[in-house]
Amino acid sequence: MIIAPSVLTADLADLATDCREALDAGLNWLHLDVMDGNFVPNLTFGPPVIKSLRKALGDRAVFDAHLMISNAELCFQDYIDAGCNHLSVHVEATTHLHRLVTAIRDAGATVGVVLNPGTPVDAALEVLSELDLVLVMSVNPGFGGQSFIPAVEKKIRTLKTAIDAQVAAGGRPVQIQIDGGVKAHNIAMLQSWGVSNCVVGSGLFNDKASLSENLDVIHTALQG
Ligand code: DX5
Ligand code: ZN
Repeated sequence: MIIAPSVLTADLADLATDCREALDAGLNWLHLDVMDGNFVPNLTFGPPVIKSLRKALGDRAVFDAHLMISNAELCFQDYIDAGCNHLSVHVEATTHLHRLVTAIRDAGATVGVVLNPGTPVDAALEVLSELDLVLVMSVNPGFGGQSFIPAVEKKIRTLKTAIDAQVAAGGRPVQIQIDGGVKAHNIAMLQSWGVSNCVVGSGLFNDKASLSENLDVIHTALQG
C-alpha cells in the first residue's frame, strides 16, 4: 500500500519542512492538490510553487499532481516541467480525455484519471489500457478534512475486476488510488477492496499528533 500524503492540510507557508517530515518518515509519494478556483471552489498553488518544492527536496519524492483544474490540456506540460512525475486529470474537466491522457504519457509523465463521487466508472474503463492509475474521489473535491463517502465501494470493486482482467490478458497494471476521508479506521477496509494507493491529508497532518505518530497508527491498522 502506497500512502501519499496530501499537502493540502500541511502548513503551506512551510511546505518543504512538512514534506521532508513525510519523506523522513519513510513515505516517498507527495500528493499535490492543485485547485484553480474554477473547476473546484478553492485555490491552492501551481507550477511555480511545485518547482520550488522540487528544488528544495531534490529527487527524493514522486510528485503526484492531482489537477483539479479546467483546461489541463493547455497547461499540463508546465506541471511536468516543474518536476511532477505523475499527473492525474479529472474526467469531468476535459472533453477529449483520451487525447489528454496520451499527450501526458508522450510528455514523459505517468498518468491517471480521477472520478468524482457522482461520476460513473465507465469513463475510466474506456481509457484503462492507457493509464497507470485511477483515482477514485471519496469526497467531493475542494477541501481537506471531509467525511468519507462509503458508496465508492462499488466503483472500486468494478475497477479492480477490470484491472485484474487487463493484467491477466497481458495488459498494463493500473493502481487504484483513493482520496478523501482516508484514516486509520478505514484504511484496512480500502485495502481489502483492492485499493493500492491511499491519499491521506488530515489523517497525517493534524494538531493531534506528529506525522510519524499518525503514520504508525495507520501502519498498525494495515497490519492488523
Ligand atoms: C480534496 C483533495 C484531497 C484532500 C484529502 O479535494 O483532493 O487530497 O486534501 O484530505 P483528507 O485526507 O483530509 O480528506
Ligand atoms: Zn487530492
